[in-house]
Amino acid sequence: MTGHRIDVGGAACPRANIDGMSETTSLPGGTWPLGDLTVTRFGYGAMQLAGPGVMGPPADHDGALAVLREAAGLGITHVDTAGAYGPRVTNQLIRQALHPYPESLHIVTKVGAVRDQQGGWPPARQPKDLRRAVRENLDDLGLESLDVVNLRLGDAQGPRPGSLAEPFETLAELQRQGLIRHLGVSNATAEQVAEAQAIAPIVCVQNMYNLAYRRDDELIDDLAGKGVAYVPFFPLGGFTPLQSTALSAVAARLDATPMSVALAWLLRRSPNILLIAGTSSVAHLRENVAGAGLPLSDEDLAELDKIGHHQG
Ligand SMILES: NC(=O)c1ccc[n+]([C@@H]2O[C@H](COP(=O)([O-])OP(=O)(O)OC[C@H]3O[C@@H](n4cnc5c(N)ncnc54)[C@H](OP(=O)(O)O)[C@@H]3O)[C@@H](O)[C@H]2O)c1
Repeated sequence: MTGHRIDVGGAACPRANIDGMSETTSLPGGTWPLGDLTVTRFGYGAMQLAGPGVMGPPADHDGALAVLREAAGLGITHVDTAGAYGPRVTNQLIRQALHPYPESLHIVTKVGAVRDQQGGWPPARQPKDLRRAVRENLDDLGLESLDVVNLRLGDAQGPRPGSLAEPFETLAELQRQGLIRHLGVSNATAEQVAEAQAIAPIVCVQNMYNLAYRRDDELIDDLAGKGVAYVPFFPLGGFTPLQSTALSAVAARLDATPMSVALAWLLRRSPNILLIAGTSSVAHLRENVAGAGLPLSDEDLAELDKIGHHQG
């Protein structure tokens, strides 16, 4: 990537990828391998760039492009998106802002849900739905092959039990055809993660997790042992920002924002956690990059740990 780099306060953090190559980033957290691709652990989630309710175009089109270009300029090499955002809006913004993509930039997308007239997210996991979704993602992003595709399971209320064999085998077939490089799952139960791994290798799991919502603690540790990334969505609480007296107390003590503490805690929680905090603001993006590098003491961690341990 050739864009400008800004000193955001993170120490240079080299981390070996699985091929033994290493990359250096000034972003907090260093890098992590998604299969043969290396990404910065500090990524960017593009969902907030679409219009209200993640439907339609952004109110500030140029502002949305500026956020994406700022992310790339800061050295972020992991952008999370989905065809369902807008729908198709965030993918087209990413293409407009960043295409032709720097070789180091990796876009992770999701298939398995569409949008209805009411702004709902109905599942669309029939083989024909998934083939169409992959084709649309390729067209909208201007790519011949997608770096990582997550199969989104469950519904807006969270993961639901049940076999993922048919849809995941469809994606594995598209991977064999060269349209997808790596696979992942999202909004998945631990059983579904294991079922997917028995069908084809996965490089990431993207589920809801943050300081206050910690249902996946065991799964995170299990995936860390297997070298698989865990990518929490709603790392800052999503549409309802994280609020906690303990979080505010630690933030006040450190003269930091609760958002910074929440991101720094996630990076400390496990080395396989990748951040995809969302924002539609360049200022917030810069703040988050700087904040995620906040050093947390053992005392801070102990206090924060009490907030949502093994809840759910
Ligand atoms: N797999 C799935 O089912 C699924 C579901 C949801 C999301 N996702 C992915 O996860 C990513 C992250 O989720 P998310 O964006 O919904 O939630 P989030 O990262 O937890 O929070 C985003 C919210 O926090 C605000 N924010 C960010 N930085 C801030 C700061 N420094 N100060 C104050 N407010 C700040 C944003 O508002 P501003 O715009 O004003 O900054 C936005 O409202 C999404 O972009 C998407 O890619 C995946």
